Amino acid sequence: MGIFLLFITFVFQLNAYVLGDDPPFETNIVGGQIADIEDYPYQVAVIQDERLWCGGSIANPNYVLTAGHCVFMAIMPLFVHAGSRYWYNPGSVHEVDFNITYTTEISTTGDVALLHVSKTFNYDKTCQPIPLFGSYEKPQVGALAYVTGWGITDNGNIAEQLHQITTRIIDQNTCNNIYKDTIIGNLHPGEICANADRMGPCRGDSGSPMIIDGRLAGLVSMGIGCLYPKYPAIYVDVGYFRDWIITNMK
Ligand SMILES: *[C@@H]1O[C@H](CO)[C@@H](O)[C@H](O)[C@H]1NC(C)=O
Repeated sequence: MGIFLLFITFVFQLNAYVLGDDPPFETNIVGGQIADIEDYPYQVAVIQDERLWCGGSIANPNYVLTAGHCVFMAIMPLFVHAGSRYWYNPGSVHEVDFNITYTTEISTTGDVALLHVSKTFNYDKTCQPIPLFGSYEKPQVGALAYVTGWGITDNGNIAEQLHQITTRIIDQNTCNNIYKDTIIGNLHPGEICANADRMGPCRGDSGSPMIIDGRLAGLVSMGIGCLYPKYPAIYVDVGYFRDWIITNMK
């Protein structure tokens, strides 16, 4: 967890402006701490070309939830690595045989996708599904949330071990006021924002889970700069998309 930008995997497209806006790695604040997979057993790595591409969460024995842009931006087949704190040394490997996206093309609104794996997840203490937030249930402003992922850390590299940060939900209007005059523009009702002190999700964390009270509240989606306190991180609101998720996992 460290520096990120509009669509957290969108590194070099779309975003020269956003990239330039980020103080590049200079603050070097440690953006999180190492986490055990047993504490976050729903966390998976989404792999493209044998590299970490995005994060995801196990929703049921055959489906992973991730960000829509993790699917649209991919140019090669995706794999899911489950059951390990090391993304490159998984407990199990699952080929994604098809995906379902909320939108028909890449979009900042409805940045959510389902990855179907042909090989079912074998649940154990390192591999478990995560319950979803209720239908249209909004996280409370000020709620404490946990975000995990293998995205780049303050040294500028993808993490080897899973990292975790704590962050707090902020008011949607406040967040909208911060973003409305930026490249991101006005927020969509299916987005929620959270702020952490000098840490945040970064490139490679897209699609990774945000957990409140043991349930999936958000998916890492967008932002401007990972460590820039002016900009909170934007997450997909899982409650807002819950009905779509449940219907499409049938
Ligand atoms: C997602 O599904 C679409 C439609 O079937 C397919 O064309 C695309 O290649 C898939 N993307 C990935 C990354 O597998």
